Amino acid sequence: MGKTVVVGSINVDLVFTSEIRPKAGETVMGSTFSTIPGGKGANQAVAASKLGASSCMVGCIGNDQNGEFSINNLNLMNVDTSCIKKTDNAPTGVANIVVAEHDNSIIVIAGANYEITKEDIDKCKDVILSADIVLLQLEIPLDVVEYTADMCRKNNVRVLLNPAPAVELPKTLIENATYITPNEHELNIILGKQNNVDETIKMYPNKIIVTMGSRGVKYFDGSEMKIVPSYNVEVVDTTGAGDTFCGGLAAALVRGDNLEDAIMFANKAAAISITKLGAQSGMPTLEEFNNFKFK
Ligand code: RIB
Ligand code: NA
Repeated sequence: MGKTVVVGSINVDLVFTSEIRPKAGETVMGSTFSTIPGGKGANQAVAASKLGASSCMVGCIGNDQNGEFSINNLNLMNVDTSCIKKTDNAPTGVANIVVAEHDNSIIVIAGANYEITKEDIDKCKDVILSADIVLLQLEIPLDVVEYTADMCRKNNVRVLLNPAPAVELPKTLIENATYITPNEHELNIILGKQNNVDETIKMYPNKIIVTMGSRGVKYFDGSEMKIVPSYNVEVVDTTGAGDTFCGGLAAALVRGDNLEDAIMFANKAAAISITKLGAQSGMPTLEEFNNFKFK
């Protein structure tokens, strides 16, 4: 079984659904409230696990109920939690998610996610380097992301970087990543000021993989720009669709799929995930994936 390791964030998502989104200064009555395990890192670890890869999570939680809730859930999802640190210095990360008007908006409070250090990465070095692919996002300190990517590159371990939430990426981080998966909005931020985005994508063949929602996924394969189409589904909640894409992409790559097939697999998994509420709660298992009927 191919092995994935995620170095990233663990949050508890406080999800409010509402028909309308409140404007500044306004109070509205919503529809439902749920507490759902989340965090881009944990989400991607769960997606990879559900979709058939071995999965291990490196991260940090607080010494609190949300931390317990997160760990229990990861264990239940068959994600190895032995590299998760518990800190007294900050609470477990939380996200306030409003699902309204067919879209979501999210505020993340990083909390314990920012307590992970390079020393923690060193402690988990053997585990991290035993991976076929290491997944990274940007909800933990950037220097830890850079440090991990550099370590992986030096040891020939593939790195899948999901640059979310986006910041301009240091050149070395772009170089050290094997795959980078921004959406269009993130793409513009991570590259800094660019004259021509397509030209930049061409400079990084088979590396920069741009997710464009219903318009598919774009990357340069070395000779042409490829668009891998996405699947059409009824949208319930897009939260975590990007994470399902990344976890699915990693799961397909570590079992040996080529990049195009892996993107197709990831697209399908992401599409299925948006037919249900919640990030992790919408992610398909391999069985659900195989049985899902598209209209
Ligand atoms: O990508 C979705 C995730 O972003 C949510 O689970 C939330 O925790 C935020 O990190
Ligand atoms: Na969902």
